[in-house]
Amino acid sequence: MTDSFVPTLLDRATHAYRRAGRFAYHFARGKLGGDPIFRHLLQHGLLPSDARVLDLGCGQAVFASWLLAARKLYDAGHWPHDWAVPPRIAHLRGVELMPLDVARAHRALGDDHPQVEIVRGDIREVDFGQVDAVTILDVLHYLGYDEQEDVLRRVRDALPRGGRLITRVGDADGGWRFRVGNAVDLCVTFVRGHRLPTMYCRPLRDWTALLERLGFSVRAVPMSHGKPFANVMLVAQLPA
Ligand SMILES: C[S@@+](CC[C@H](N)C(=O)[O-])C[C@H]1O[C@@H](n2cnc3c(N)ncnc32)[C@H](O)[C@@H]1O
Repeated sequence: MTDSFVPTLLDRATHAYRRAGRFAYHFARGKLGGDPIFRHLLQHGLLPSDARVLDLGCGQAVFASWLLAARKLYDAGHWPHDWAVPPRIAHLRGVELMPLDVARAHRALGDDHPQVEIVRGDIREVDFGQVDAVTILDVLHYLGYDEQEDVLRRVRDALPRGGRLITRVGDADGGWRFRVGNAVDLCVTFVRGHRLPTMYCRPLRDWTALLERLGFSVRAVPMSHGKPFANVMLVAQLPA
């Protein structure tokens, strides 16, 4: 069922983006359909259920839409037997800097999902509150080195014992794959209507060391399947 199921999940997760315009819709389809991390997170059950989730740098909130669609399909009895049960979202707050992305998220998700809140804000400044899980997907390298450390420290403080941070970073030691990934990142940023940012990258061992210094234990999973990038997903867990 898995092969026939993924297009169904993609359709359900992206349908609402038609309301947000052609760009938003096609971007959502390209992102959720082409990036392995979204499927991996579900397949392996990496987010806890009934959790308060904080998605930092959420863009147009395609991840929230993916999670909502997944749980709806599961509740309707349509779910691959070899995938983990998808999480039920108690509350998901997405924080995004770019007003255009926030507007696209609001138009797509509308008022249909009271448990999801997408707000405009700078993750260097907003209060993270207390949550059970945090995701920061392809965002940290837009922050300066000190800012990265500060955000990660505040993430640690926002999580309970056993709380989990899932992030994805590029491995600056990844040679040409790393450079290709960065070039694509810059192109996508430009196409989305943003100025070209400076990027603050680190080798994988430095990302890991930083998180470990903050008290997380870290598991690194290569996350560029099928693409010539040096992207790595870090599953960072606080002691129980
Ligand atoms: C490559 S996109 C990833 C979007 C989303 N996490 C995803 O996986 O679809 C990076 C996002 O981080 C946002 N971002 C960068 N710096 C930020 C900041 N200081 N505060 C909030 N969002 C930020 C960008 O505007 C952009 O939407």
